[in-house]
Amino acid sequence: MCGIVGYTGNRKAGPVLIEGLKKLEYRGYDSAGVALHDNGRLIVTKAAGSVAELEKSLNEHHKEVTAGIGHTRWATHGPPTDLNAHPHSSASGEIVVVHNGIIENYRTLRKRLTEEAGFKFKSETDSEVLAHLIEYCYEGDLLAAVRRAMSEIEGSYALVAASSREPDRLVCARKDSPLIIGYGEGENYVASDIPALLAHTRRTCVMDDGEFAVLTPEKIEIYNKDGQMLDKDILEITWNLEAAEKGGYDHFMLKEIMEQPAAVRETLRQRIKRDSGLVELGELDLTTEQILKLDQIYIIACGTAYHAGLIGKMAIEKLAGIPVEVDVASEFRYRDPLLEPNQLAIVISQSGETADTLAGLRMAHTKGLKVLAITNVVGSTVSREADRVMYTWAGPEIAVASTKAYVTQLVALYLVAIYLGQTRGTLEPEKAGALVDGLLALPEQLTQVLSEDNIATIRAYCEHLSRWDNAFFIGRNLDYPVAMEGALKLKEISYIHAEACAAGELKHGPLALVEEGMPVIALATQEAILDKTLSNIQVVNARGGAVFAVTREDFEDVSWQVESIFSLPVVCDTLAPVLGVVPTQLIAYYAAVARGCSVDKPRNLAKSVTVE
Ligand code: M6R
Repeated sequence: MCGIVGYTGNRKAGPVLIEGLKKLEYRGYDSAGVALHDNGRLIVTKAAGSVAELEKSLNEHHKEVTAGIGHTRWATHGPPTDLNAHPHSSASGEIVVVHNGIIENYRTLRKRLTEEAGFKFKSETDSEVLAHLIEYCYEGDLLAAVRRAMSEIEGSYALVAASSREPDRLVCARKDSPLIIGYGEGENYVASDIPALLAHTRRTCVMDDGEFAVLTPEKIEIYNKDGQMLDKDILEITWNLEAAEKGGYDHFMLKEIMEQPAAVRETLRQRIKRDSGLVELGELDLTTEQILKLDQIYIIACGTAYHAGLIGKMAIEKLAGIPVEVDVASEFRYRDPLLEPNQLAIVISQSGETADTLAGLRMAHTKGLKVLAITNVVGSTVSREADRVMYTWAGPEIAVASTKAYVTQLVALYLVAIYLGQTRGTLEPEKAGALVDGLLALPEQLTQVLSEDNIATIRAYCEHLSRWDNAFFIGRNLDYPVAMEGALKLKEISYIHAEACAAGELKHGPLALVEEGMPVIALATQEAILDKTLSNIQVVNARGGAVFAVTREDFEDVSWQVESIFSLPVVCDTLAPVLGVVPTQLIAYYAAVARGCSVDKPRNLAKSVTVE
């Protein structure tokens, strides 16, 4: 959720921290701050607003010092104000902390520290208690104080602390929130995500839960929860900083939409056997016997990943004949699902850090289920806690609105469905072959979908749509979850209220809202039920709705029945969502641009949602 950067070395820390924070603004962007070691003092500068605002208020002199910590915040406890921004200082100002996560017992600790030590709190945040608690535990060794303090904490944290009495030394702790160490020469780094490190080093180490790290310019020491020093593996990052930047597009979201052909190619790479054309998923690591015994799958995810799960359900049930339930992760834990050890849980998460999804994963584990994670982020918590991991390999997704992660999640789910169907014998070889051919054709077809002409069609419709405050997305069968995803995307970034409706349900209530000119985006890609969808479109037409149909180029009947049309290349019903979702992403994007919205960082939202 929030972004953290720490630096200790021989260069000016201020610019290193500011540049690192800018790379992390997608994690939180409502306030920012830095604390710099300066001749035995810790100087804190923080401000509501963007990192650029913080940069302006940073004193020139303080930019010269060579160690410090920085933070960019996404508010949870208390509004985005200067006081609530991190770093937080202890009562004496000798300890500063930056924190990502939630301190669940902060009220109890705050009361105790106020009563026992007379500490005065300045902010409304849960995080401030960490600075006071560390000071309360401090007896000349910051590592020991952080360890003692963390033993009293309930909740989640990625934390970096500094003491004015220990210049050049940073102490880090992690539980349920990511923290990555970067190795330099005569300088070292810590950050909550890799983009903040890439300008300086590719040699990294992902901290695990319960670990502590001590950074000085010369060395990095990592300890487990029992205080034993660890010899951890170094993870060499192979992707470029450029890959995490906009690459000429106005927004990350558009860049990421345009990257979808390449992203899908990466998801498919090495997962289809060249000789037989069969799907090969070594990463599933399930024996044929285990696959044959599978009698129930649970898919657990949030938001866009949940919408991918709904399509995964239909594909797995159809191709592999295994019943699948799909749960919004925040509901899964509280509904007492009937979990048995011979079932499989699939958790889907782009970031691999979503707190609700992680909680679902852990609950499935406690009931003895094997968990397969479909995620985009190597080394993420989900990837490390799951029994098996299938990476989507979409590359970093920076825009809060998820696009390429979604289509690659779909492709990963199709691969799972085909693989299970092949192994269980429920999918005939010819059908499996046709689906594999269909998957392999998707990158090229996505490129066609993203043509300039098609984008012009979308932009023209968005001139109309962007003037409305309400819209419907309708679809049947596999088009319905795509409609749900389209509606989520539109409301998320353009702030137009959008509702997805199973096309056949319109007449049972929602149709009352349709009036002259109301935008209705109709997904009509499913050949098997095209006539039914067309009837539903007619019903909207009859009430004057402005229908924008997303359909296949060979469905000629659709064009004369709607106001605007977006034609997809010919694709089978099962795989159509991969193409069908793209115009809905573009609709959201261009409507948001037309309304002057902050496309990549929509209000109130964050990329990585690490609170429940
Ligand atoms: O990182 P995750 O895939 O676990 O994130 C889940 C949702 O928070 C995410 O998909 C969210 O709905 C997107 N911002 C939608 O575009």
